[in-house]
This record gives sequence, C-alpha cells and structure tokens, in this order.
Amino acid sequence: MTGRVDVVSIFPDYLAPLELSLVGKARTRGLVDIAVHDLRDWTTDRHRTVDDTPFGGGAGMVMRPDVWGEALDTVLAPEAGERVLLVPTPAGQPFTQRTAEELAGVLEAGGQLVVACGRYEGIDARVAEHYATREGVQVREVSIGDYVLNGGEVAALVVIEAVVRLLPGVLGNAASVVEESHGSDGLLEHPAYTQPPSWRGLEVPDVLRSGDHGRVARWRRARAVERTARVRPDLLAAHPAAVRAARPADAEVLAEVAGATFALACPPDMPAADIEEFVATHLSVERFRAYLKDRRRWLLLAEVAGAVVGYTMCVAGEPEDPDVAAAVPDRPTAELSKCYVLPEHHRSGVAAALMTATLDAARERGLPGIWLGVNGRNERAKRFYAKHGFARVGDRTFAVGGRRECDDVMYRTL
Ligand code: ADE
Repeated sequence: MTGRVDVVSIFPDYLAPLELSLVGKARTRGLVDIAVHDLRDWTTDRHRTVDDTPFGGGAGMVMRPDVWGEALDTVLAPEAGERVLLVPTPAGQPFTQRTAEELAGVLEAGGQLVVACGRYEGIDARVAEHYATREGVQVREVSIGDYVLNGGEVAALVVIEAVVRLLPGVLGNAASVVEESHGSDGLLEHPAYTQPPSWRGLEVPDVLRSGDHGRVARWRRARAVERTARVRPDLLAAHPAAVRAARPADAEVLAEVAGATFALACPPDMPAADIEEFVATHLSVERFRAYLKDRRRWLLLAEVAGAVVGYTMCVAGEPEDPDVAAAVPDRPTAELSKCYVLPEHHRSGVAAALMTATLDAARERGLPGIWLGVNGRNERAKRFYAKHGFARVGDRTFAVGGRRECDDVMYRTL
C-alpha cells in the first residue's frame, strides 16, 4: 500500500527539492505520494492573511487557527488508515531515527503524514489541541535540533527525506539502512574509505585491505564505538560496560588495546622509542597469547557495545622486586599488573566496572590482598586506585632506557 505525505506551507516553492534525488525517484516510481499545498488557498480575505498578533502581547505574529483548520480539514484524508499530523517546531520532541522509523511504518501501512509548516511565532496552540482529539489522527510536534529556523519547511524536508528513504524499495541496498549511524545499535557509523589507497600522504588502514572479514568487522565496531564515545558519549548510556574473562581468541584485541593505552600511563618525558620497544616486547599478540595460557595470570576485559575498550591483567605469586616483597604485607599475593582503559572511555564508569570485577576475581582466588605499581607522577591513576581502596605502602625503582623511574607501590586488602 502506498502511503501519502501532504505538506502545507505558505512557501510551497520551498519544498521543490522533494522532486529531486531519491525522494523524487520514490515519487515517480509510486513508492510514496507527496503533495504540497499553499496554506493561503484556504484564506478568505482579500489579503490572504494567515497570521495575527499574539494575545497577551509580545513580539512576532501567530498563525491563525481558522485558516489552518480549513486547510487541515481538507487535507487530512478520511480514507487513509493511520494519520499523523506532524508539526515541526523547535518546541517539539526531538526528531530521531526512531521517529523516522515509526513514521515510515505509518506510510508503509498506507497511512498519511500531514506536515503543517508554521512560520513566525508558530501556529495557534488550539490547532494541535483540536486535531489530537480527532479519531485516527495522531499529532506529533517535532524538533529537528536545538536551534531555531525561520519556519517548518526545512524541517519538513529533513523529516520527509529521513522517512521516505526507509520505505521498501527506495534505497538500492537495504543493508545500508541497517549499518548506518543511528541504526538499531545506537552508535555512530565507522569511518569509510575508497580508492585510491594512498591520497595526499594519507593511507587507507591496512586492516580494510586485509581481506580478513572478522578483523574488518572488529575494526569497524571499534571505530564506531570510539567515535561515539568521543563525539556523542550520551549515546553510550544505552551500552553499559560488560566485563568478562579474556579468552585465547582475545590475544589480538588485547594487544591492540594495550598498544593504544600503554603510553598514556608513562611518565611524560619517557622517549617514544622506549615506549615502542616496551609495547613490541611485552604487549605483542604473542605475549598476550602466552599471558592467556599462564595459570598464574588472569585477564579481564571490558566491552562497550561489543568493542573491547579496556583490560586488566593480574599475576599471582611472590613479588620479584625485594622492595615490593618487603612492602606488601600479606601472603599469598598477586599483582594488578595492567589496568588500562581507552582514553575516550575515561570517566565513564568503564574503569570502575573493570576494577570491581578484577578485585572480585582476586577474592574468588582466596587472596588476602593485591598490590600494584603506579608511576609516582601519574596523579590521575593514583587517585583512581585510592578511590578503589588502594593505599601506598612503599615504592620501587627500576631502569627504563638507562633512566631510573620510581613507582608508588599500592596495596589493598580484599
Ligand atoms: N521550526 C523552527 N525551528 C525548528 C526546529 N529546530 N525544528 C523543527 N521545526 C522548526
């Protein structure tokens, strides 16, 4: 069944773009009927007046309910099933992809969308109130964003394009609707690349040319989550962190996250070459494979929306460093050797969830306490550990690239 869209405006020419591109094609292919009406056709005075001054005073003009009433009585099609009177206004509910999906559902079922484009200070409030009481009519006031336009026409174009492209047959590839930003998983889309592989010194990421579909899917998911965390952290409220034990198959992703996070906890003056060498030696895929096999170690990882965003690694056993062995009070003991979260997920509760699960796992092993070493100058990390019950019990010094570094040794009972 073909649904219909009727737009009422005092500037019907504003809606000419509805004849172009995918929406225009959808119309000519009979996938949707769209008509644009001039509100002034329903005026009765010589000046074709549509507005008047507001009762109660104030700036601007308000659109008259009597003119709108005549227009909407004519345009609302009694034969259509479900009818939605859509009123674009900055005072409306946010228009989202979910709204677009709902409205597309109305059109798919052969229903009608009537878009009432207001100008000036809006439409007399009784219009929305009146049509909300009409049998089979749903009134929806929607805003396309927190800014003010001169009228509803541009918002109508936005809404109609977002809705019509969801109708069956409008887009060539139905999958592109599923995977795009604001799709069903509520994430922003991953970045996309095409030919040429190298452009102005910028390369397409190797993984996308690897032909390894699993790695490509994981990379895209990681980039989508990273972008969402950076640009729209509010969207991640629907995706709380899930913490689980790492499995052998996680070695690659652990190495990726370790490589992306290790430098963040290093002293600021540590040479990049030393950091690179440490990452290559201790945080490679091979090393993580070995860590995951080592019965003395346990690794947990935190996932947000299916992407790994942080991990911890603990090692049970007697501390090798005699200074640490002397500082740590109880036995047996374990070291919280790694605790890293990607920077865009800091202050989001991911690290706290990871730490809580890590301490629980240590308790399950019957350990009386756990220790860690943290760079003495890493105030942020020290605050985080203190919040999770760790207190300084000593320090340890060690050489990195010929320089001496000093860690605080922190401990907490379990
Ligand atoms: N009319 C004016 N501003 C608008 C907005 N932000 N959204 C929808 N309709 C509008």
